[in-house]
Amino acid sequence: MLADLSLIWITTRAAGVVALVASSASVILGLALASRVGAGRRRGVLGDVRVLHQTLGIATIVALAVHVGTLLLDPWLQPSIIDLAVPLSMDYRPVWTGLGIVAGYGLLVLTLSGFLRGRAGTRWKAIHRFAGLTWAMSVAHTLGAGTDAGTTWLQAVTGACVVPVVVLLAVRLVRSYGIQIHHTT
Ligand code: HEM
Repeated sequence: MLADLSLIWITTRAAGVVALVASSASVILGLALASRVGAGRRRGVLGDVRVLHQTLGIATIVALAVHVGTLLLDPWLQPSIIDLAVPLSMDYRPVWTGLGIVAGYGLLVLTLSGFLRGRAGTRWKAIHRFAGLTWAMSVAHTLGAGTDAGTTWLQAVTGACVVPVVVLLAVRLVRSYGIQIHHTT
């Protein structure tokens, strides 16, 4: 029984970490695509990066399903489906788990909208603008809800996810600011 309990708990946490890493890698590749980092070298590479970006989105959804599915089996937390689906309804760290729930819905919509890209037209782009916010919510959720948030290893993993996103965001801002200067001069 004890072994079952710790297996469920380890799986929940491991799946959460996989979801964080996969979604961060997807955001990093998405930003690199949008900023055209390394573009102009080989057209095929851009296509491969796009496929990887979408595959990581699906991997995030699968990891999330395991994260939430094993929480449902957690004999200590004993959450109901409502607790896991409605933000702020869980007794355990309600704000931080609530952020995770909102981020989970966001990631689902973002990934599905990516597949409807051709048909959704400009609406797809409007939806994708929320990717950064959704991702930031999952980072806040990790640090606020995670049992391991105080450990060096989870802080190192979170840092390795956050730093490249911040750098690429800065590159993107600088580039679009540069383009604006170019247009106005
Ligand atoms: C319906 C959505 C979600 C619910 C109900 C949920 C719930 C939880 C709960 C209760 C914990 C604390 C578990 C513990 O550490 O003992 C947790 C931790 C965690 N969650 Fe979520 N979560 C959701 C979505 C997400 C999302 C979208 C991500 C990332 C993309 C994520 C990543 C994590 C991580 C990395 C941890 C820390 C694991 C650790 O401490 O080792 N979760 N979540």
